[in-house]
Amino acid sequence: MLRSLQLDSTHRVILALRLSSLLFLFSSVLSVHGYYPTRANIFIYAGCSQEKYQPSSPFEANLNSFLSSVISSSSQIIYNSFAIGNDTSAPSEGAIYGLYQCRGDLHPTECAKCVGRSVNQIGLVCPYTLGASLQLEGCYLRYEHSGDFLGKLDTGLRYRKCSKAVASDTEFFRRRDDVLADLQGANGFRVSSSGLVQGFAQCFGDLTVSDCSSCLTDAVGKLKSLCGSAAAADVFLGQCYARYWASGYYDEPGSSNDDQVGKSVAIIVGVFAGLAILVILLSICKKTMGKSFFPILLMPIMKQIIGK
Ligand SMILES: *[C@@H]1O[C@H](CO)[C@@H](O)[C@H](O)[C@H]1NC(C)=O
Repeated sequence: MLRSLQLDSTHRVILALRLSSLLFLFSSVLSVHGYYPTRANIFIYAGCSQEKYQPSSPFEANLNSFLSSVISSSSQIIYNSFAIGNDTSAPSEGAIYGLYQCRGDLHPTECAKCVGRSVNQIGLVCPYTLGASLQLEGCYLRYEHSGDFLGKLDTGLRYRKCSKAVASDTEFFRRRDDVLADLQGANGFRVSSSGLVQGFAQCFGDLTVSDCSSCLTDAVGKLKSLCGSAAAADVFLGQCYARYWASGYYDEPGSSNDDQVGKSVAIIVGVFAGLAILVILLSICKKTMGKSFFPILLMPIMKQIIGK
């Protein structure tokens, strides 16, 4: 009877260990990838045209209608383009063309939040301009008075950021080059990782598959030539961007509070899992070895925990 009890207990311990490692895995995944949605609103760059429009002009009316179309569309799909007021009957000075693109891993709910933020900010960053673009971490928004930018490959450098931290080991560069080679083949959005190096790439939705690949080839070339041995780097071109980083780079102190929340959740989950194991182990010890095993002082605590 004791033998069967022991077997049974062993199974329970294994189950508890599996459960707690699953919880631990889950919580660490949460905190590693937690930075994606929480950082979506971080400002990356903006570009404003020199030319301005007049308040209360047809252009302003069309711009407002463009911005509200962008908002309603972004809760459904993560990319869209618009042409407003470009039919021959409308006054040509009012024509506006634009697009938005959320990063491919954002759910439309997150996309809509990010785009909503961009819509609120673009008029503050570029007041009364005939053209503007705004890249936040999670989404891009652009409008122009002329429509010739839509669908046209543009690999001009808009923004780059190379980490101060540099890598020196050949293993890192081998892994980084693997990741970058993989990203070049992205059609739209791609995440890639090799060992401790991770990365992602995004093209804007108006590019064809082959233009996307040309754009990303250019972005990858610039990541290497402009950022050399950086441990993390971003390159944003006219219609695509690419980024790589060494694992843990974005987990460093000084990141947002949300990361701290993620860590607290992980710690709490870990403590509970640990307590669960302790309780199960103690109950097994109690059953298999008898009450005499425990020092008398420990018994009341044990009874509290196990509830017997
Ligand atoms: C307006 O612009 C869009 C996008 O460039 C184009 O597809 C459409 O044919 C244009 N409409 C007219 C009436 O020119």
